[in-house]
Amino acid sequence: MMMEKWRASRRFLRCSAAVSLFDRILTPTSANSACNSAFGFVNHRGSQLCNENQKRKIGTCFHFLRGDRDTTLRTSMGTGIGSTVGLQHRCFGSAASKVQRNPLFSTLNSDDISYFKGVLGEKNVIQDEDKLMIANTDWMRKYRGSSKLLLQPRSTEEISQILRYCNSRCLAVVPQGGNTGLVGGSVPVFDEVVINLSLMNNVISFDKVSGILVCEAGCILENLMTYLDTQGFIMPLDLGAKGSCQIGGNVSTNAGGLRLVRYGSLHGNVLGVEVVLANGDVLDMLGALRKDNTGYDLKHLFIGSEGSLGIVTKVSILTPPQLSAVNLAFLACKDYYSCQKLLVEAKRKLGEILSAFEFLDNLAMDLVLNHLEGVRNPLPPSMHDFYVLIETTGSDEAHSKEKLEAFLLHAMEVGLISDGVLAQDINQALSFWRVREGLSEALLKVGACYKYDLSLPIEKLYNLVQEMRERLGASAKVIAYGHLGDGNLHLNISTPQYDDKILAQIEPFVYEWTSMHRGSISAEHGLGLMKANEIFYSKSTNVFSIAREMQNNLDTDLCTYWNMEVRAKRLS
Ligand code: MLT
Ligand code: ZN
Repeated sequence: MMMEKWRASRRFLRCSAAVSLFDRILTPTSANSACNSAFGFVNHRGSQLCNENQKRKIGTCFHFLRGDRDTTLRTSMGTGIGSTVGLQHRCFGSAASKVQRNPLFSTLNSDDISYFKGVLGEKNVIQDEDKLMIANTDWMRKYRGSSKLLLQPRSTEEISQILRYCNSRCLAVVPQGGNTGLVGGSVPVFDEVVINLSLMNNVISFDKVSGILVCEAGCILENLMTYLDTQGFIMPLDLGAKGSCQIGGNVSTNAGGLRLVRYGSLHGNVLGVEVVLANGDVLDMLGALRKDNTGYDLKHLFIGSEGSLGIVTKVSILTPPQLSAVNLAFLACKDYYSCQKLLVEAKRKLGEILSAFEFLDNLAMDLVLNHLEGVRNPLPPSMHDFYVLIETTGSDEAHSKEKLEAFLLHAMEVGLISDGVLAQDINQALSFWRVREGLSEALLKVGACYKYDLSLPIEKLYNLVQEMRERLGASAKVIAYGHLGDGNLHLNISTPQYDDKILAQIEPFVYEWTSMHRGSISAEHGLGLMKANEIFYSKSTNVFSIAREMQNNLDTDLCTYWNMEVRAKRLS
């Protein structure tokens, strides 16, 4: 029985450079020993183990200011500011097209510039057009503001002074981390002053006993990973934009990423934050304790509020120890039902060692193979409808190996997997991850992309993809991938160029569908400019009213987050 399966699988698995998991599991002992090193590569992808080519650097040409995809603070504490000043590069989604600049906000004058130079020094007050162009444009090049000023503070105190001044002058601001956000939340809408956090990039402390890291908000995620690697720890979050995104932006958007299934969300891992409010007040909530039940835990208000309540300047975060046995399987499934069943089985059978469960469909695979250089299909070329990446992370190689082998063998026997390979070493693992992590980059290369980031009940998640395909017919490609382990679908509709007729077929349908299934219209990317008006698909009006009241209490006078203004209009 075993031998029959082995032979059958060998027929279509041979050409992969990685070790076929069927070979690995089912071949006789000699073959197993040949592959021993192949199973269970040690260490995590990223950081010092990969060379420059392998590192994922998104948008390197914009590296100067780029940072947090899935992230990025959005504190246009100044609000909806005049249509005469700013021109939307691309009005993607309904909210963007309706925003008007509020004329009550001031425009910059030479006294303002002199003040900022006095606080920050000449070189950190940037008016250079090229640099401003970068800061004004989002990673997807859908949104473009018209800011005339970029500030680069080096400390909390400097941020406090900037905000106090802007508040007194009614100057709108937008904080910016790595500018890798996907919802138009990290760039100015009009002429807001951009406050860039890149120079605040120091690790403040690391406690090797508790694993608690305290750092400034401008630290690039990948740099933190590299630093922790030297200490024998890892960051509890990992995302494709790690080469540019900043931890402050990650926290401000409650970035999810690839390991949430194992380590949970930043609401669990962030132990403390320091923030500066719109009026310049500094709130020190930078606790480094696992437990603190002294009243309301207000830091949670700042995690995922996209800068609407203040700028995160420091972060204290719990980091897990680095474990030595990391394995990655790249698998093919014949249908979505098999992916789901595989997830249920993985949670049950892999339990504590499961560290990622990602999926992509065949259109996503075609896209990344055809449009991203250096990406190769880990499996022999044959048609599969779905692909799943399963990563395990454990402390004991033999234990992990035994568990994973048993799991994969069973999955294969019951037909949940139609093909698959195991990474033999860190390089192969990186190349498998490149397929999944390269998708958003590949989408940018083919033209326009309508991007949705949804939380949905897992069993219904792919129905939306199919319905969308039926709606759009041949006019668009509907490409699906995401964090299946935590019910997060990344639904991408790719067309040669933006077209309002297509947009009208997608929205509000996609939001209504999500709301009908009690999903969230933003699983991890945030609302930003794109979905500012759509919050009511996921939040009830009375919940929103409380949020608005809290925001008003923290904010001052006219420096309100423009999203709130937009939402308030919709509410009335
Ligand atoms: C991802 O999971 O790849 C990111 O959230 C980006 C995207 O949705 O394209
Ligand atoms: Zn994602």
